[in-house]
Amino acid sequence: MVYLTKRFHFSASHRLYRKELSDKENEKIYGKCSNPNGHGHNYILEVTVTGEPDPQTGYIMDLSRFKEIVRSELIEKIDHKNLNSDVDFMKGIVPTSENIVTVFWKVLKHKISFNNIKLHSLKLFETENNIVEYKGK
Ligand code: NI
Repeated sequence: MVYLTKRFHFSASHRLYRKELSDKENEKIYGKCSNPNGHGHNYILEVTVTGEPDPQTGYIMDLSRFKEIVRSELIEKIDHKNLNSDVDFMKGIVPTSENIVTVFWKVLKHKISFNNIKLHSLKLFETENNIVEYKGK
């Protein structure tokens, strides 16, 4: 199997909190990430697919098609948005990096799986030093 990764950038804001908890309790769990007016990140998302290279083209997947699917299905819906309130598929979810990649997986999984290709992993860089990776089911 060969693994092919494309890297995407998006900017988004969020606030980590659970609405059933008080501000004080949220602060205890999420620290400054629960500040009421939120804050932003310049995220990097690495999307990896796996498959056998096509014997004719030598590609697993056409790169511009790969880019177009991820952009139209995901990046355009989250870039410069508030992840708590502006994005349908994030509604009701605490937008930690862990939850974000899990939801993104559900969004992309069926859009990017074909006969010879499947989604292998999503790696989200919230900052240079905070990185989560998901290899979903
Ligand atoms: Ni944050």
